[in-house]
Amino acid sequence: MIHDDILKRLRTSRGGFVSGAQLAETLGVSRAAVWKHIKALERDGYGIEAVPSKGYRLLSLPDRIVAGDLAVRSGARGIGRSIVLRDEVASTNTLAMELAQQGAEDGTVVSAESQSGGKGRLGRSWISPRGNLYLSVILRPVVPVHKAPLLTLMGAVAVASTLRKHSGIAAGIKWPNDILVDGSKIAGLLTEMSAEPDRIRHIVLGIGVNVNMDLRELPVDVRRASTTIAAVAGRDFDRTAFLAVLLTELDWWYSRFLKNEAEVLTAWQELNVTLGNRVTVSGFGHSLEGAALGIDADGRLILKMDDGSLRPVAAGDVTIVKKHGHGPRGQGRR
Ligand code: BTN
Repeated sequence: MIHDDILKRLRTSRGGFVSGAQLAETLGVSRAAVWKHIKALERDGYGIEAVPSKGYRLLSLPDRIVAGDLAVRSGARGIGRSIVLRDEVASTNTLAMELAQQGAEDGTVVSAESQSGGKGRLGRSWISPRGNLYLSVILRPVVPVHKAPLLTLMGAVAVASTLRKHSGIAAGIKWPNDILVDGSKIAGLLTEMSAEPDRIRHIVLGIGVNVNMDLRELPVDVRRASTTIAAVAGRDFDRTAFLAVLLTELDWWYSRFLKNEAEVLTAWQELNVTLGNRVTVSGFGHSLEGAALGIDADGRLILKMDDGSLRPVAAGDVTIVKKHGHGPRGQGRR
């Protein structure tokens, strides 16, 4: 698309001018057509300076996620090859489940600027004001149903890796899938599935990342345990750029999962902040306390109880009672 090509050229000129004549020639259109596309980009929220003898120069990006821009950056293959962007939805997971039911392809991503009924784990709500990332990925893996929880761990590895690589934030994973920075939650994942007893129809991997929101948008009790990329880094972040890296990471880790799921478990273990500590796991009306020994091949947490027995736990909320060691490599800012 000419719109995307112009954007790509403006981007790659790194703040320098690109002449209208040059754009027209390389794209095989008239200078008037280039000008029309520039106007369309401005309507999309891009700040573009036009100087008669010099051409066009990109000054600023829109404060929202732009599909064309995302495709230019991520390469748009595998996860994210099809992207549905909305302004506000009840929940991207709910919309993604509906689209999956209607046949949306493996790797389709649904993202929204805000959610009016965002869903969290264990039936909680996920407060979703503007300024963050809310996305759900439709996956159709051909793997046994009991392997589905590993996809949440896969997603957690992709999110933590993106935070480390893109934002320079040393994020760790608390079992099963809370992404923490120095003990505060910066992202969370919620996986939903449609399956028959022996076959996964589709999985929706929902990811919420706190990017630029004002933490005062959260109720006090949630706020105390939360942080944002902007709060940790001390500046606002380009959400489209973050999402593009996240899609690339998800694509990579999903391909690793399909090839050899043990690689995902190894990466998860390296990034985790749970194992090796004494923990309580609560949920479903009861709570267990023990030493978090490891995770099994299906992603369940193995607790060593005080009587020496081993107890696999499939779901719950972990609280670290007593910390041993130093968590994942490089905790703290990079
Ligand atoms: C949690 O930690 O409790 C999980 C939070 C998951 C939130 C994301 S935001 C995008 C997707 N849509 C939802 O309604 N929930 C997930």
